Amino acid sequence: MDAIGIIGAGQMGSGIAQNAAASGLTVLLADREQSIADAARDGIAKRFARLVSKDKISETEADAAMQRIQPVSDYGAMDQASFIIEAATEREDIKQAIFAEAGKVLRSDAILASNTSSISITRMGANLPDPSRFIGLHFFNPVPVMELIEIIPGLATSQESVAKTRAFAELLGKKIVMSEDEPGFVVNRILLPMINEAIFVLGQGTANVADIDKGCRLGLNHPMGPLQLADFIGLDTCLEIMRVIFESTGDSKYRPAPMLMKYVDAGWLGRKSKRGFYDYS
Ligand code: CAA
Repeated sequence: MDAIGIIGAGQMGSGIAQNAAASGLTVLLADREQSIADAARDGIAKRFARLVSKDKISETEADAAMQRIQPVSDYGAMDQASFIIEAATEREDIKQAIFAEAGKVLRSDAILASNTSSISITRMGANLPDPSRFIGLHFFNPVPVMELIEIIPGLATSQESVAKTRAFAELLGKKIVMSEDEPGFVVNRILLPMINEAIFVLGQGTANVADIDKGCRLGLNHPMGPLQLADFIGLDTCLEIMRVIFESTGDSKYRPAPMLMKYVDAGWLGRKSKRGFYDYS
C-alpha cells in the first residue's frame, strides 16, 4: 500500500498513526497547524520509546516506524495517499469542511474514511463528489491497544470500498465488526447510554464517583468504571455522541444527563482538561 493520510492529530489520529506506522505503512499525519502535527509525532515517539523500554519492540523497529510518520499541515499532501482517515473533533461541520478540502486532492482510486463515533456516514458522504468511496472506520481508544474496529458502509458505499477497507483494517491487525449506518453504530450505542446512566446515578446521589466506578470494575470486570472511562474518552465527545443518538432517534431514554452538560459547560472535559469526574492536575 502507498502512503495513508490521517487528518486530525489528536488522541485518535495519533493512535491511528502509531498503529499504522508500526504495521509498516507510511503515514501523512495532518493537522491545521504544523506545530500540532509535530507535537503529535513527538508524542508517538515517546510511546514507541516506552515500548522499546518494555522490550515490546526493538529500537531499530521503533526508529523505522518513526521514519514512516510525516507530520504535515497542508492537506494537499493527501494526493499521495491511497487511504485517508479523518479523525477530527466529533462535530459534523468540522468534518464536512475537512472532506471538502481533502476531496479536492483525493486520488481517483483512494478511499476516504471517517473515524466518527456516531455521525451518519450516509449523510456526510452525500456531499462528496464520489460517495461510493466514503466509509466509516471507527477506532477505539487507545488505538494501538484496542483490537476492535467498526466498519460502517453508508448507503452509497461500494462493495469494492468495503473490501479495501476490510483489507486495510486487517493490515492494522484489527478485528472487525460490521455495522449498519445507525446512530452510535454498535458499540457506542451500547456504551454511551451506560456512561450517561452512570452520570444520572451520580446526579441523583445513589452513590459517589469512586463507588460507581468500583461497582462496575469489580462487579462487571470492566477495566475502567464508567465515569473514569468518560473522562478518558472526553466528556465533550461523550455529550456529542449522546446528542447524536438522542436527536436521531428522538427517544427520551437517550437524553444527555444534566450533569454531563454542566461539566462540559464548565470546560471539565476529563483527562484532556485535567478535570472531569476526577482531578488529573
Ligand atoms: N496509547 C497507546 N498505548 C497505551 C495507551 C495510549 N494512550 N495507554 C495505555 N497504553 C498501553 C500501555 O503501553 C500498555 O501496553 P503493554 O501492555 O504493551 O505494555 C497497555 O496499554 C496497558 O497499559 P497500562 O498497563 O498502563 O494500564 P492498564 O493495564 O490500566 O490499561 C487501558 C490501560 C488499556 C486504557 C485499560 O484501562 C482499558 O482497556 N480501558 C478501557 C478502554 C476502553 O474502553 N476504550 C474504549 C473507549 S470507547 C472508544 O474509544 C470509542 C468512542 O468512539 C468513544
